[in-house]
Amino acid sequence: MHVISCSQTLKLAESMCKGTASQLHSVEKRRFPDGEMYIRVDGDLSGKDVLVMGNTNTDEGLLEIVFVLDAVKEQKPASITALVPYFGYARQHMAYNPGESITARVVMKQISNDVKRVVTVNIHDTSSFKFAESQCEDFHAFNDIAEHFRDKDIDLVMAPDDGAYKLAKEVADVLGCKSNFMNKKRVNSTTVKYDMDHVDAKGLNVLLVDDIISTGGTILASTDIIRASGASKIYVSAIHGLFINAADKKIKEKCEELSVTNTLASQYSNIDISGSLSKYLQM
Ligand code: R5P
Repeated sequence: MHVISCSQTLKLAESMCKGTASQLHSVEKRRFPDGEMYIRVDGDLSGKDVLVMGNTNTDEGLLEIVFVLDAVKEQKPASITALVPYFGYARQHMAYNPGESITARVVMKQISNDVKRVVTVNIHDTSSFKFAESQCEDFHAFNDIAEHFRDKDIDLVMAPDDGAYKLAKEVADVLGCKSNFMNKKRVNSTTVKYDMDHVDAKGLNVLLVDDIISTGGTILASTDIIRASGASKIYVSAIHGLFINAADKKIKEKCEELSVTNTLASQYSNIDISGSLSKYLQM
């Protein structure tokens, strides 16, 4: 497979290619004096099976993957798979208020146009798939999270809301322990409220897992409840660590360990999913 990665996912792409027959091509990215982006993909891709990787959470990342896809399509490859480890905008898959842009639709249309398939990693909500113009698959990275915490004697895997319960249960099933979720209400984009002030966690080693850590509001509030309920140890994990406004530092103070996967690069992205991803994509 011929792999082309945008800058944000380059490290992950390098790890995915390691030990496989896949070839990583370089991308020239620079800015014109007026700030416009220039993209050139290296190598001959005509008739080849190509994997294009990039995250869509930043303006720059989104533009970059759209331009890279365009450059690849120009070369008439046999097939293109678009791998979006962190599919940004998935939370806006509908208009919550009149007049809003359904940004997940815009992003998905751009990514899925003229490609064979789109692969995401634990996308926040697969509702975005209905906007796609190609086949979509969501890879679940629960196994790597479970293996990372294998030696921590986890008694309970807790989801901070019902949306994350599927992930918590998948992790718990691998570890052979119990799982549960908490009732969260979102007040606004930075504040959440819990309907409960207690969970059954007395004396337990708890692994708290969510799909995304953004401002950290969810994890900080749920950790306080789990701690107040008498948990012995609290470990925090997520698939995607955005860590807005130094959320990582605040969370780190409240738990024994904070570790997220490397869909997004950060100081805490020490759960490497490159091996599982390259296996899944048969690289
Ligand atoms: C929401 O439903 C998601 O699963 C996460 O819980 C949320 O995105 C986390 O956001 P924050 O870290 O800002 O609370």
